[in-house]
Amino acid sequence: MPGEIKQDEYDSFRLFLEQSAGITLGDNKQYLVNSRLNRLMTDRGITSLGDLVGKLKAGSIPGLRETIIDAMTTNETLWFRDTSPFDVMKQEIIPAIGKSTPKLRIWSSACSSGQEPYSLSMLVDEFKREKPGQLSAEVEITATDISPTVLSAAKEAKYDGLSIARGLSDERKQQFFTEQDKLWEVKPEIRRRVQFRELNLLDSYAPLGKFDIIFCRNVLIYFSSDLKRDIISRMGKQLNPGGILILGSSESLTGHSDEFELVRSPICVHYRIK
Ligand SMILES: C[S@@+](CC[C@H](N)C(=O)[O-])C[C@H]1O[C@@H](n2cnc3c(N)ncnc32)[C@H](O)[C@@H]1O
Repeated sequence: MPGEIKQDEYDSFRLFLEQSAGITLGDNKQYLVNSRLNRLMTDRGITSLGDLVGKLKAGSIPGLRETIIDAMTTNETLWFRDTSPFDVMKQEIIPAIGKSTPKLRIWSSACSSGQEPYSLSMLVDEFKREKPGQLSAEVEITATDISPTVLSAAKEAKYDGLSIARGLSDERKQQFFTEQDKLWEVKPEIRRRVQFRELNLLDSYAPLGKFDIIFCRNVLIYFSSDLKRDIISRMGKQLNPGGILILGSSESLTGHSDEFELVRSPICVHYRIK
C-alpha cells in the first residue's frame, strides 16, 4: 500500500465496505487491505487509503467502487463443498420437494466461481439417472454473486487442474467435463440448468422470484448480526411454502431467525420456512 494506513483512514474504509457490500472487517485487518489493494491503488495513482475513500465517495473514477468490492471479497470455494449438504439434497430434500412441483427452483446465493451451482446441477443429473421418475420437475438453478470477476469465470465454466482437483471424484470429472489444453470445461447439459446474475445480498431479491431451496453458504460469516438477520428474513420471503435454506457448516440461524424451523437431519442440519 502506498504509505502506512492511518487509523481514521482504515475506519472510513471499513465503513465504506460495510455499507456497500455488508462485509465487516475486523479491527486489525490492515494487512488484508494492504495485500488486496496495494497493486490496484498503485496502478491507479491512488496515494493512500484516505485518498481511495475520497475518490470512492466522490465517484470520480468510473468502476472504482465495483473493483474495490471485488478485490475485498473472499472467493474460496470447491466442488461439492462439505459433501453433506449435497447428500441431504439427494437423499431427503429433492425426494420430498421434487415430486410436488412442476418446476424446482434453487438459488445459489453467493456462488463464487460456479462450483456450488454446477455441483448442484451435477447432483440433479445423477438423481434423475439413479431414481428415474422421482424428479420429473424441470430444475432451474439461479446463481448470484456480488463479484463480476468470479461471475465471469463461472459463466466461462472452464477450470484449471488445481481447481478441478478440489472436491471432484474422477468419475464426476470424466462424466461432467471435457478437457482441452489443460482446462476442464463443464458440459453443456450441466451448464444449461444454471443462470448467473450479479446480485449484492444487500439489495432486493424480488426480481429473482420464488425458490424451493436456497443455498447461502460461507458468506454470512462476513456480515454483522443485524445484517445476517435481515438477509435471512428476506430470503425466507423468497421461499415457497415448505422451502428449504441450507447454510455453511460453520453458520447457523441461532439467534438470527424464528421464521424457520430447524430440520435435524442426521445427514446435514438445514432449515425449513415455517
Ligand atoms: C467464500 S465464497 C463462498 C462460495 C460458495 N457459496 C461456497 O460455499 O463454496 C463467498 C462469496 O460471497 C460473495 N459475497 C460477498 N459479499 C457479498 C454480497 N454482499 N452479496 C453477494 N455476494 C457476496 C463473494 O464474492 C464470494 O464469492
